[in-house]
Amino acid sequence: MNPSLLIKCPVCGASLHADESGRSLRCNGEGKSHCFDIAAGGYVNLISGRASGGDSKEAVRARTAFLEKDHYAPIGDAVIEILREVGNINESSLVVDAGCGDGYYLNRALRTLGCRGLGFDLSKFAVDHAAKSARRGGLSEKSFYAVSSVFELPLADACADAVINLFAPCVEAEYCRVLKPGGVLVVVGAGEEHLYELKKAVYDEVYLNDTRADLPDHMELIERRRVDFTVSLTTPEEIESLFSMTPYYYRTSAEGFQRLRALTALTTRAQADLYVYRKNNK
Ligand SMILES: C[S@@+](CC[C@H](N)C(=O)[O-])C[C@H]1O[C@@H](n2cnc3c(N)ncnc32)[C@H](O)[C@@H]1O
Repeated sequence: MNPSLLIKCPVCGASLHADESGRSLRCNGEGKSHCFDIAAGGYVNLISGRASGGDSKEAVRARTAFLEKDHYAPIGDAVIEILREVGNINESSLVVDAGCGDGYYLNRALRTLGCRGLGFDLSKFAVDHAAKSARRGGLSEKSFYAVSSVFELPLADACADAVINLFAPCVEAEYCRVLKPGGVLVVVGAGEEHLYELKKAVYDEVYLNDTRADLPDHMELIERRRVDFTVSLTTPEEIESLFSMTPYYYRTSAEGFQRLRALTALTTRAQADLYVYRKNNK
C-alpha cells in the first residue's frame, strides 16, 4: 500500500511520499528533505540512526513459530468480530496495529475484512516478518509496516478508523490522536487464568494474572469481551515457543526451565481480555 500522506516524517513531521522509484519515502520538510529507504522486505525503518529495540530475532522467531500454527486464532477472530461489528470496519477502512509484532493479527484482519492496515513495532525483526508475510499472502496492496515506537506514531492526526493493540504497550493519548472521531480502540491483554496450566507445570505456586495496568483512562469503554479457549501442544519445541512469548521466560529459575524442558505435551487454558473504546465524536 502506498502510505503517502498518512505517514509523517519522524524528523520534521511533514508528510512522507513514496518517491518515483518506489524504493523510498521522502518528505518535503522546510528547507530539507528527509529520506527513508524501503527495505528489501518491504518495510521502512523510521527510527534509523537511533537505537532500536523491541523483541529480539529469537523472540520473534519463537512467537512466529507459535502463532503461525493458529494456536491463538480465537483471539484474532475475536478482534476481527469487534472490528466488524463495533467498529463497522469495511474495505474502505484503515486499521492501525500498534505494537504489531510479526503481523499475525493485522494480516489476519486484512484478509478477512478487506480493509487497509498499517502496522508499527519497535522490533525490525518483527516488522520485517510482518511485511514479508503480508507480501506472501497477497496483502502488499493493503498493508504497510514500519519500525517505530508506539509512543510517537509517525501518523497524521485522525487518519485511522480503528487501532488494535495486543499485548504491547498501550499509549492512550497517541492512539486517540490518530483515531478519527467515532473510531474504536481495541486493547487486548492476558486474562487472569491465561496459560494457567503452563505456569503450574513450571512453578510451585501459581498466581493469577493482574489486569493490564495501562488501560485507557479517558476514552469511553464501550465493551469488554473475554475469549476462553484451550491450547494443546504436542512437542517440547512448541511448549518452549509459547513459554518464551510470556514475561515469565525472563524471570524463571534454572529449576523451572528444567521442569519446562521435561514436558513433552501440554494442554493449557488460554484467556484473553478485549477492551473496546470509542473516541468521542467531537
Ligand atoms: C508481546 S509482543 C506482542 C506482539 C503482537 N501484538 C502479538 O500479539 O503477537 C510485544 C511487542 O511490542 C513491541 N514493543 C515493545 N515496546 C514497544 C514500543 N515502545 N513501540 C513499539 N513496539 C513496542 C515488541 O517489539 C513486541 O513485538
